Amino acid sequence: MYDNKTWSGRFNEPMSELVKKYTASIDFDQRLALCDIQGSLAHAQMLTESGILTEKDLTDIRQGMEEIIQLINNNQMNWSIDLEDVHMNVEKMLTEKIGDAGKRLHTGRSRNDQVATDIRLWLREETDIIIQLIADFQVALLTLAENHTDTVMPGFTHLQVAQPVSFAHHLLAYVEMFGRDRERFIDARARINRMPLGAAALAGTTYPICRERTAELLQFDDVCQNSLDAVSDRDFAMEFTAAASIMMIHFSRLSEELILWMSPRVGFIDIADRFCTGSSIMPQKKNPDVPELVRGKSGRVIGHLMGLLTLMKSQPLAYNKDNQEDKEPLFDTVDTLINTLRIYTEMMAGIKVKPENMKSAVLQGYATATDLADYLVKKGIPFRDSHEIVARAVRHAEEKSCGLEDLELSVLQSFNSLIEQDVYEILTPEGSLKARNHIGGTAPEQVLRQIMRWRKILG
Ligand code: ARG
Repeated sequence: MYDNKTWSGRFNEPMSELVKKYTASIDFDQRLALCDIQGSLAHAQMLTESGILTEKDLTDIRQGMEEIIQLINNNQMNWSIDLEDVHMNVEKMLTEKIGDAGKRLHTGRSRNDQVATDIRLWLREETDIIIQLIADFQVALLTLAENHTDTVMPGFTHLQVAQPVSFAHHLLAYVEMFGRDRERFIDARARINRMPLGAAALAGTTYPICRERTAELLQFDDVCQNSLDAVSDRDFAMEFTAAASIMMIHFSRLSEELILWMSPRVGFIDIADRFCTGSSIMPQKKNPDVPELVRGKSGRVIGHLMGLLTLMKSQPLAYNKDNQEDKEPLFDTVDTLINTLRIYTEMMAGIKVKPENMKSAVLQGYATATDLADYLVKKGIPFRDSHEIVARAVRHAEEKSCGLEDLELSVLQSFNSLIEQDVYEILTPEGSLKARNHIGGTAPEQVLRQIMRWRKILG
């Protein structure tokens, strides 16, 4: 007998409709269907090679699964809530198609190790896509940076003009951040890529299975070494979502800057119209909706991380139904990351830089004051004293509403007699950039080197 519920023999009344709806996961876990089949095919092959299923069973299972894959790909699979989840839906359909071999497929496994394997297979695939998309986004940043190693803009601390940097240097800060994000996903992948299958419900199975063989067929690096841990571990989901949250925070910071830079008050950049929206009431408005939404969406990903951490907190070993709640946050995290990476990569190519506005902001902010202090230090004045001398000069220039470079040499010399004509070179933003010529500095030569380094890494 093959009832709708695989365990219904134990019960003497049907499940309440409300409970059925509440406990079913098919609405969302059908997304795992192809991975579920991939796992089942490897499991069936291993069972056959180990003499647990016959060659005929395997041929039937492969044939049946082929048909189910067609149904899924053509959107013709009739997912039933009575069958609770993707695993039972697929198995029931298989059995309808091929009979007894379909019922034998579940030999030596449980939905507990099955679902844990499915999510890992699915997440591994998505992680690979994300790792590639991050690289694409980094390339988009580099491409924009390439033309701006000599474009000066104010670097800020406390959102006050601090020192000149190049726009390329600023962009490369994000290339570094996203480079670390990419590393984190590569690291996380290593722990995603271990196989729970064979743990069965929680204790292992009495059949002479070969877990290494299934792992090899599914291209897992290793098998999970403890059956209890195998079915209950969701570290990989927490870790993935933590890496995702950190990346979304980087996106949120970049978004905040783009929004600020695009404000007419700042006017450093313009974002192409296709990434902006207008206002229904204010005709003059062009709003940076995409970066704003990305900034907002960082909240939902961080929320999913909190959700998963809380889901796992205090769960006793081994599998608990709580774990069914791991999927939606993971799915939504992956969707948000992939969409954000794609749209941001395109948006970078549509950014128009306004170097004149950046330059005038540098000139207004006494951004080269530190350069003047360093100049005096090189003439033998202790840094703390030169700091004070320059502070007085800045105050004087401020009173005259001009820049340090606009003060006559005699005026500058009144603050310190060691100042000479060559000071004007170091007071320019360009001179200031050029002077910071070491690894990690903003000198065009160094930034160009970094661009080349990243180009090589990203291929
Ligand atoms: N739908 C379940 C999940 O997502 C599959 C595993 C069910 N296992 C069980 N013992 N009820 O976790």
